[in-house]
Amino acid sequence: MLSTFPHIVELRGVKKIFGKDTGQFPAICDINLQIAPGDFVIVTGKSGAGKTTLLNLIAGLDFPSSGTVFVSGKNLNELSDDELSRLRNGTIGFVFQTFHLQPQLTALENVLLPLILANYSPAEACEKAFEALAKVGLREKADAKAEVLSGGQSQRVAIARAIVNDPAILLADEPTGNLDEITGNDIMQLLVQINKTRGKTIVLVTHDRSVFSAATQMLKLDAGRLV
Ligand SMILES: Nc1ncnc2c1ncn2[C@@H]1O[C@H](COP(=O)(O)OP(=O)(O)OP(=O)(O)O)[C@@H](O)[C@H]1O
Ligand SMILES: [Mg+2]
Repeated sequence: MLSTFPHIVELRGVKKIFGKDTGQFPAICDINLQIAPGDFVIVTGKSGAGKTTLLNLIAGLDFPSSGTVFVSGKNLNELSDDELSRLRNGTIGFVFQTFHLQPQLTALENVLLPLILANYSPAEACEKAFEALAKVGLREKADAKAEVLSGGQSQRVAIARAIVNDPAILLADEPTGNLDEITGNDIMQLLVQINKTRGKTIVLVTHDRSVFSAATQMLKLDAGRLV
């Protein structure tokens, strides 16, 4: 079943229940949601409201207990493992609060990883990875090991890694949660710029009000429901 154009992300009646039998916990309840290409969606809600669960469902990192998630017109429930991997590697970039870089690899090598998975030739991969590092202002740190980078630099590398395959959708889960205010603002401005100049659809979990004015949709979750 194809999603109706023009939504790049659509959730229909999505529910996510964790646990079994008596220990069941509804983390996401009956969510209907439509995101258009180029949207800048900001997700807020207190701790435990279901924000990360929602992002994981959109990313195909987790699956609904019932309901349907469509990404680029594809029903995630109906994709094979291969198709899902390709979608996750090519269509979606994910940025985490805690960066999730490989500490022993250099900045460049971290950014190269998704390209290697996408079977680029080494020369082409290097060119694209350098380009992505340049976009986040870190070209000169290409050969630095991830473990020696500052928090802001680490998050820039993580963003470079997330955009290097030119994904249509960028998901970011409290990407400035571990950064000081000024560094956090820089990262937020970088995301705004990626949305505005490159037309990327962004779904951002944040409580940073400085970026709220860039949003085309504000979502607030409360106990798994949109309010
Ligand atoms: N794998 C899991 N098994 C059981 N319960 C889970 C699991 N993952 C999340 N939950 C529960 O689902 C609810 C929503 O969790 P989620 O991580 O989505 O919240 P959040 O809004 O991202 O919170 P935070 O702001 O603290 O990151 C929480 O009550 C959490 O304990
Ligand atoms: Mg979370």
